[in-house]
Amino acid sequence: MTDKKAQLSVGNKVIELPVYSGSIGPDVIDIRSLAQEGLFTFDPGFMSTASCESKITYIDGANGVLLHRGYPIEQLVENSDFIEVCYLLLHGELPSPEENEKFHDTVKSHTMVQDQIRHFFKGFRRDAHPMAIMCGVVGALSAFYHDNLDFSDERQREIAAFRLIAKIPTLAAMCYKYTLGQPFINPRNDLSYAENFLHMMFATPCEEYKVSPVLARAMDQIFILHADHGQNASTATVRLAGSSQANPFACIASGIAALWGPSHGGANEAVLCMLQEIGDESRIDEYLAKARDKNDPFRLMGFGHRVYKNFDPRAKILRQTCHEVLQELGLQDDPMFRVAQRLEQIALEDQYFIERKLYPNVDFYSGIILKAIGIPLPMLTVIFAVSRTIGWVAHWHEMISESFRIGRPRQLYTGLTMRNHPDTD
Ligand code: SDX
Repeated sequence: MTDKKAQLSVGNKVIELPVYSGSIGPDVIDIRSLAQEGLFTFDPGFMSTASCESKITYIDGANGVLLHRGYPIEQLVENSDFIEVCYLLLHGELPSPEENEKFHDTVKSHTMVQDQIRHFFKGFRRDAHPMAIMCGVVGALSAFYHDNLDFSDERQREIAAFRLIAKIPTLAAMCYKYTLGQPFINPRNDLSYAENFLHMMFATPCEEYKVSPVLARAMDQIFILHADHGQNASTATVRLAGSSQANPFACIASGIAALWGPSHGGANEAVLCMLQEIGDESRIDEYLAKARDKNDPFRLMGFGHRVYKNFDPRAKILRQTCHEVLQELGLQDDPMFRVAQRLEQIALEDQYFIERKLYPNVDFYSGIILKAIGIPLPMLTVIFAVSRTIGWVAHWHEMISESFRIGRPRQLYTGLTMRNHPDTD
């Protein structure tokens, strides 16, 4: 924090407001004292609002930089696995070899879910969207874990964190198996996190699923790349839910609900639907014209970002991973990948996209990779939720570990002023 000041003049009043500098990034103006002056700021969509202080993730949108606890995302993808990144996001430092082994083992010993949860699935239709099932099942987890719900206690926060990180892939795979009408597959502790997820998704009681190292590595990279992203819509939702001291399972369920929208985590599913609808390169110009047309609600899914006004570094990594996975599977001529690459190339040369600094984001290539791995369309956002759970938990943990107040935004009221009911004397 610094002793810089900003001055706000309202009518004949000049109000001094403190200005704080972070370790990197834009300064912030502390406006908390405005309420005493009978004033609120107005910022729908939080275009210019910092809702909290955090040490977890920094995004430099102008230069396409993403840091987790100071480490560039490119170096984490190259040198760590997802569980190590979970440790880093939660604790602030990369684990020592001993800490790493202990953390891996602890996560592995929490992967099973209470057996009664199986019955919970039975209330859903088989064709329910798996994100609908995830919202319900994760929200209900607190009904199964009555112990350790005093989150003022650091140890109980840690137990909740382990349970969520470890069980979310098990529940996600159960959603998929339920929609198939196949029996649930138990987790295996001899497999890595990514291998175990693919095993629970694709093994059956009759046949073991041989996990390809290339696909497991791609899955692990996808988990790393979606793990956290600062105060995005779903993480901000989790923080707001946590500020009322709701239990972490309910908070994570609120994050899953917020992630589902096509403007946010639901975009990966929407990108594949869009690429399927475009079909081949000959129709790209038609769809770019729709994206530019103000009267057409169509948006180029997987493009644009509130913060990145340059390449999303995750999209760059995923484009390379996409190439490797398709190569490994002999799908390098995958028409969808070809359309995606051509679409990216044309859009990046198009004035409309250049002027608005619209670049591919994390969702543009992830769906193609997941589809190639064999993950069906409705499960794409579930995969995002599996990965982002660590980000949500880390931000919930950071907020609860420090002093916090319940989040309660104000409003600009433009409705009717007081009037009497017609039956009032
Ligand atoms: C994620 O916040 C995060 O960090 C999110 C995320 C994470 O890891 O948590 O990174 C994950 O959600 C990535 C974004 C996934 N969503 C999509 O791909 C959906 C398509 N993109 C958009 O709808 C849009 O770009 C948003 C929602 C991502 C960002 O919206 P903003 O910041 O509110 O931008 P905007 O709507 O104000 O757009 C600014 C201009 C507008 O045109 P003008 O009014 O200035 O003429 O750009 C246009 C928009 O019409 N525009 C697009 C566009 N995105 C913005 N036009 C066509 N296609 C698009 N994709």
